[in-house]
Amino acid sequence: MPLGPLGPAHPARPSDGEPLAIAKQARRRAEPSNAPPDYHRTVTDDRPYSPGLEGVIAGETSLGYVDGERGRLLYRGYRIGDLVDHGTYPAVANLLWTGEWDPGHHLPTGPIPEAVLATLRALPRETKPMDALRTAVSAWGATQTLDWPPTPEQARALTAFSPSALAAFARIRRGLEPVEPDPSLDLVPGFLYQLNGERPDAATARALDAYFICGAEHGFNASTFTARVIIATRSDIASAVSGAIGTMKGPLHGGAPSEVVEQIHQVGSPERAEAWVRDAIARGERLMGFGHRVYRAYDPRAAALRKVAEGMEHRPEWLELAIAVEDVALRVLAELHPGRALKTNVEYYAAPVLMAVGLTPDLFPATFSLSRHAGWTAHVLEQAANNRLIRPDARYVGPPERDLPV
Ligand SMILES: CC(C)(COP(=O)(O)OP(=O)(O)OC[C@H]1O[C@@H](n2cnc3c(N)ncnc32)[C@H](O)[C@@H]1OP(=O)(O)O)[C@@H](O)C(=O)NCCC(=O)NCCS
Repeated sequence: MPLGPLGPAHPARPSDGEPLAIAKQARRRAEPSNAPPDYHRTVTDDRPYSPGLEGVIAGETSLGYVDGERGRLLYRGYRIGDLVDHGTYPAVANLLWTGEWDPGHHLPTGPIPEAVLATLRALPRETKPMDALRTAVSAWGATQTLDWPPTPEQARALTAFSPSALAAFARIRRGLEPVEPDPSLDLVPGFLYQLNGERPDAATARALDAYFICGAEHGFNASTFTARVIIATRSDIASAVSGAIGTMKGPLHGGAPSEVVEQIHQVGSPERAEAWVRDAIARGERLMGFGHRVYRAYDPRAAALRKVAEGMEHRPEWLELAIAVEDVALRVLAELHPGRALKTNVEYYAAPVLMAVGLTPDLFPATFSLSRHAGWTAHVLEQAANNRLIRPDARYVGPPERDLPV
């Protein structure tokens, strides 16, 4: 690729700020020549470039391991299925923050500072819950002293605050008063209590807790990477998490279990599943909740959530339909794409679990963000503990150095 203004050095421009590695390279090539600058010379930047950073190792982590080939997800070495079977979200969050497995770890939802509540009340009622949550985290940061380096206490406080804030906003927009946190409840039942004004039954709380565990961590995904980039500048944990929420808001990342809901509604009954699936694919549509960029096997989070959904005491009829549609979809996808493993992903069973616990689909993405707080904040701690500013280079493909027309 021809490159631009890389004539040997620009001695008259000491204020250019950070030196470009490539400019250094060009200078090195120019030495020890005493020739006058050749502003029209071009150089080739042949350093490796991977669009979207795909396949690039951008850091090291001991938090989450995503094994797409074999369909495994480990948090600090522990299998996701075991964590769902034997853990709670607070225990898993604590594991991510500290490396210690304490199954009895208790974490209630946190208080909402008055300034944050006033901010939430000032938002238009039609504000998207993701926007409200991002705003709440930002306002929360303004009310705290968040010194460098970030601490597990900061991680705990923020992870505990956000469910209260989302629940408060969900009530305020319906003209209801927010509900105070109940310190005797753990984070997930506490969130449902603040959302609905009544304590959830154990099975409902357990199902949403399983969802939170499955959403807690997933390696260097876009929002987690955002959080690490922000904290690497020695900014603070609230800035890192509000940036991460902004990243997760994008449909390419935040996913759409609500689209799974819509799809199942369209199918209507198990007898119509086969025809509906084949028609949808023939129209060029994608089946929501199937396929994954990393997993080539059944997403282990989907397996864990299916088990939870099937074990729910009051299974909605809707869930039976979802299970029937999945069987058909897997069979048809295998038939149409024999060379490509297209399996169920986490979104598919997130949808019935979130529906069954009574959340409205427009709260799904923000609830996903609540669950990812544990992972985001653990990555913030990990990045800060061994910090290096994250600052990649870009390949310059603009015009070569030229004279301004005067
Ligand atoms: C998740 C997803 C974006 C991954 O995409 P990807 O790794 O880039 O996969 P590709 O786009 O390369 O797809 C490979 C082939 O499988 C097909 N395919 C992939 N996912 C499919 C799906 N859900 N339904 C139908 N066909 C699908 C593609 O059409 C493509 O077919 P082609 O080779 O004939 O063109 C994709 O599977 C998808 O759109 N799934 C539905 C949305 C979803 O569930 N998202 C949540 C992800 S957690």
